[in-house]
Amino acid sequence: MSSVYEIAPDIFRISTFVPEANLQFNQFLIRDEQPLLYHTGQNALFPAVRAAVESLIDIHTLRWIGFSHNEADENGALNHWLDAAPHATALSGLLAAVTGINDNISRPPRILEDGDQLCLGRHIVRFLVTPYVPHSWESTLLFDETESTLFCSDLLLQRGNPAPVDEAVLDAAIHDLQEGQQTPFRDPIPCTPHTQPTLMRLAALRPRCLAIMHGASYQGHGDAVLAEYAAALPRILAP
Ligand SMILES: [Fe+2]
Ligand SMILES: [Fe+2]
Repeated sequence: MSSVYEIAPDIFRISTFVPEANLQFNQFLIRDEQPLLYHTGQNALFPAVRAAVESLIDIHTLRWIGFSHNEADENGALNHWLDAAPHATALSGLLAAVTGINDNISRPPRILEDGDQLCLGRHIVRFLVTPYVPHSWESTLLFDETESTLFCSDLLLQRGNPAPVDEAVLDAAIHDLQEGQQTPFRDPIPCTPHTQPTLMRLAALRPRCLAIMHGASYQGHGDAVLAEYAAALPRILAP
């Protein structure tokens, strides 16, 4: 069973807590003339996430499906979604397409480049190519310019089952990053020459809402949160 919460006007957070992982898996739906789902969730989550999406829109109107990088929680259930939503097209960067989904996807994605904008109706989203942020080289992110909402993927991951929105996401994320260094899940965000400039580029967008894949979303001064996160990463992660 997934829960639904509106984190910004017509931007909905769909959240499923998986106790075995002590982690929430969140997808986000932008409800507009051309609805967009960001993150598909894994195959196992598809029935629950589909039910949540159907509570918000007619699934046949779903137009776009976005994701950050090639991992199961990002785009694992992509073909289920393409089957269920016959008018939907996946959005992908070139690298994610040629290194992953082109080999598995049931119909071709639309390839976007850095800075490309897409008008969904009232919402305009901008595609951001963000190599190695949050981790792999094909990583991209998405920014809703209309509602100043940044879809952060794995950035600011918080463990547990927090409320949909929390003002303390930064403290929780830094704590969990430090704790994670003692586990096999250490160094989830590689510290590369791209890390700081990319995070500061995201901060410069001055997002009012951070739509985070694992854990609570944030409403407020997203630029300050991202800048502090950028400053903290080199102190915690291996160089
Ligand atoms: Fe990831
Ligand atoms: Fe993730």
